[in-house]
Amino acid sequence: MSTLSVLSHFQTKPILEARQANQSAVETSLDLGLTTAAITLHSDRITLPDGQALTWPQLEEVAGNELACYLVENSQIEKIHFFSEYLNRYYSLMPTESAPTMLISGIPMHRIKGTNPYKDTLSKIKVIAPLAGQVLDTTMGLGYTAVEAAKTAEHVTTIELDPTVVEICRLNPWSQALFDNPRITPIIGDAYDEVEQFDEASFSRIIHDPPTLSLAGDLYSADFYRRLYRVLKHRGRLFHYIGDPKSKSGSTTTRGVVRRLQEAGFGRVIMCPEAFGVVAYK
Ligand SMILES: C[S@@+](CC[C@H](N)C(=O)[O-])C[C@H]1O[C@@H](n2cnc3c(N)ncnc32)[C@H](O)[C@@H]1O
Repeated sequence: MSTLSVLSHFQTKPILEARQANQSAVETSLDLGLTTAAITLHSDRITLPDGQALTWPQLEEVAGNELACYLVENSQIEKIHFFSEYLNRYYSLMPTESAPTMLISGIPMHRIKGTNPYKDTLSKIKVIAPLAGQVLDTTMGLGYTAVEAAKTAEHVTTIELDPTVVEICRLNPWSQALFDNPRITPIIGDAYDEVEQFDEASFSRIIHDPPTLSLAGDLYSADFYRRLYRVLKHRGRLFHYIGDPKSKSGSTTTRGVVRRLQEAGFGRVIMCPEAFGVVAYK
């Protein structure tokens, strides 16, 4: 079990309200909404169940930043953000009322408009349910699709290009199953190359949730789709996230993706607008 304590403005709000109401204790979450914990209020600080203390100015700093999550360690707070020298990008964990998303140089990794990262994940999984047997998740990110798939699959293999993303996952309570669940194997590497090491017909389901086309063109190429086709079992299914099919770029990209998936051998490709992607059948 994770012993991480992570706070965002969503969790500090009830604490500050309790102070206003002169309460001596309040319940909030110390893992971004997954569980709740009892907090004790004092005139100059709060204390957490593990004995750590935070001052009111520290809590006000967290409350004042709607875009950041903070790790609480040794009674100190530290914003969860990293610069990736590998890809020359800045990553940070951004809270939502559900699972946090990751901002990649300011752009959210999951859908958050009218939805949240957890619902976004469920919509991706639902279109290729049931997930049983061996599952390949090509691009790990915060690992939400891998973690959700592992709830029913025998085993999930997930690949992440950037080691700095894994550092963020280590500090994200919602990503901990990546490290704790023996039925998930995270691999650091380029999905384009890594899929070549798997035997033919190894996976019954593939989740392909790549960055946008302009950032990861290889992962949208007919050659990569052929590699995915090879490792997918007969009658297996691939979910390919693409983006809003109603947007100009989303609809153009979708047309190209469908054509190249068919070129790669996928017999049937079905639009799944509710999941912002397509499902391809072998
Ligand atoms: C949209 S996110 C995936 C979100 C993920 N499905 C989740 O549930 O959190 C895409 C991820 O792919 C990673 N990535 C980019 N290029 C890659 C590649 N060639 N191989 C593997 N991962 C890659 C990015 O670093 C990013 O973390």
